[in-house]
Amino acid sequence: MAFKDEINRRRTFAIISHPDAGKTTLTEKLLLYGGAIQTAGSVKGKATAKHAVSDWMDLEKQRGISITSSVMQFEYEGCCINILDTPGHQDFSEDTYRTLMAADSVVMVIDAAKGIEPQTRKLFKVTAMRHIPIFTFINKLDREARDPFELLDELEKEFGIGTYPVNWPIGCGVGFKGVFDRDKRQIMTFNEFHRGQEKLTAIECDITDTEKLDELIGEYQRAELVDQIELLDGASFEFDLQKVQKGELTPVFFGSALTNFGVEPFLENFLKMTTTPLARETREGTVNPTDETFSAFAFKIQANMNKAHRDRITFFRICSGKFERDKEYFHIQGGRSLRLSQPQQMMAQDRQVIDEAYAGDIIGVFDPGIFSIGDTVCDIKHKVEFKGIPTFAPEHFAMIEQIDSLKRKQFVKGVEQIAQEGAIQIFHEPNSGMERVIVGVVGELQFEVLEYRLKNEYKVDVVRNNLPFQYIRWIRNRDIDISSLNLTSDTKWVQDFKGNNLLIFTSEWNINWALEKNKDLILEDFSND
Ligand code: G4P
Repeated sequence: MAFKDEINRRRTFAIISHPDAGKTTLTEKLLLYGGAIQTAGSVKGKATAKHAVSDWMDLEKQRGISITSSVMQFEYEGCCINILDTPGHQDFSEDTYRTLMAADSVVMVIDAAKGIEPQTRKLFKVTAMRHIPIFTFINKLDREARDPFELLDELEKEFGIGTYPVNWPIGCGVGFKGVFDRDKRQIMTFNEFHRGQEKLTAIECDITDTEKLDELIGEYQRAELVDQIELLDGASFEFDLQKVQKGELTPVFFGSALTNFGVEPFLENFLKMTTTPLARETREGTVNPTDETFSAFAFKIQANMNKAHRDRITFFRICSGKFERDKEYFHIQGGRSLRLSQPQQMMAQDRQVIDEAYAGDIIGVFDPGIFSIGDTVCDIKHKVEFKGIPTFAPEHFAMIEQIDSLKRKQFVKGVEQIAQEGAIQIFHEPNSGMERVIVGVVGELQFEVLEYRLKNEYKVDVVRNNLPFQYIRWIRNRDIDISSLNLTSDTKWVQDFKGNNLLIFTSEWNINWALEKNKDLILEDFSND
């Protein structure tokens, strides 16, 4: 296949949701369609003997939850699809945010009974920063659900985004009869649990064909559907692909991932509406995916993928060209050339060494500790440097100290390395060194991961004192006298290890205080430095 066609058939997206909305179930059904897995339960087997895709860490196994995010590739009707999974547990990490930086579009799974939940809100905010397409799958229609109009209204009001329902649910829970396809003007009836790659045949039925509709969904639901569709056609947003691609309009699908209902039409429409790999900005200008020269950036570092080998794998998103195994490339931040001889692609627990990959793909490479998040690897003759990945605001803070002062060196090394991988962020009080490290994490579980890893990998025991702070803001002003700012007594000034100044707060009220009492102060909740 021609080089450009290879790239243009790629679709790379992340699935996001609040825990339990059905992200894993939907992913699994998509993989079943692609033939990438044969049995349900392969992605996450809470109910089966199999373990989660990303059960690499012991801690994770103990908890039966998934801490790390992973990548899955499959083929469907000529497209090569890369799904970036994001940690589904409440204690998700900064990795989840960074994964969104590697995706070209996002699928947001929402529980129809619950609507927008806190984690959906956080992830949406980060997605919106990138202006990439966002698709909504409203799940669990086989259970009691909220009014679909109310759900759309919530999306529009809270997220400031237009919605375009591609299909419309007919009832919910025990009264769930199926969906109406607004474009094809067809009804797809919900009747039984079906599996795998089997396709459901839609029943063509005009909305004005009262007799047939009555037969299919009953008189009462027919009347309700006709009214709702009339309302929708008259009042909702028009479909506009350009707006979809800019992330201003979200196509909405209703379905039930568990019963595999609505997954296939979702996949087909999604593939039509989403984007091919997107161009990316570098310090030297825009890099297009179909440029001949290879370029990629690191968005995730996974330590201890295999405990026996004590290895660390860095995940790169390929942004342009073709990657070839063993070819000489250039690592910009390291300032030297290198060959990547064991590039891998992941599929659940399997890793496969690959010989080539294309823009849009994700590859994992063995890392002896040379890469950091945001690093660029590129063609040796055509050097570019991607603009870094933002650092996102942690929400939990703790003071960490080692118990045995003789182990100071290991402590410093461990904390620094784990921070370099991007699992935690470390701060210190101005004019102090590494004696007292303030650790900030996006999800609280990362504290346990840190303690566990310091003990197991670096042989250091630590004490942790949780701090009451919940918000952090980077100070954008370069020339401000921080010590003379008017701040509440429980606001703390800290620095990160790049020397940036930050404030940590216990409440939003205190952030507002800081902004109101110091009119020139500019605060941001992520850092691009
Ligand atoms: P997550 O990755 O977003 O956290 O959610 P996950 O897919 O694990 O789904 C959470 C629970 O919701 C699971 O039940 C799953 O079976 C159920 N679920 C997902 N989609 C649907 C749906 O369309 N309809 C219904 N009725 N349920 C759905 P569980 O009992 O927590 O786990 P399990 O024992 O089934 O694995």
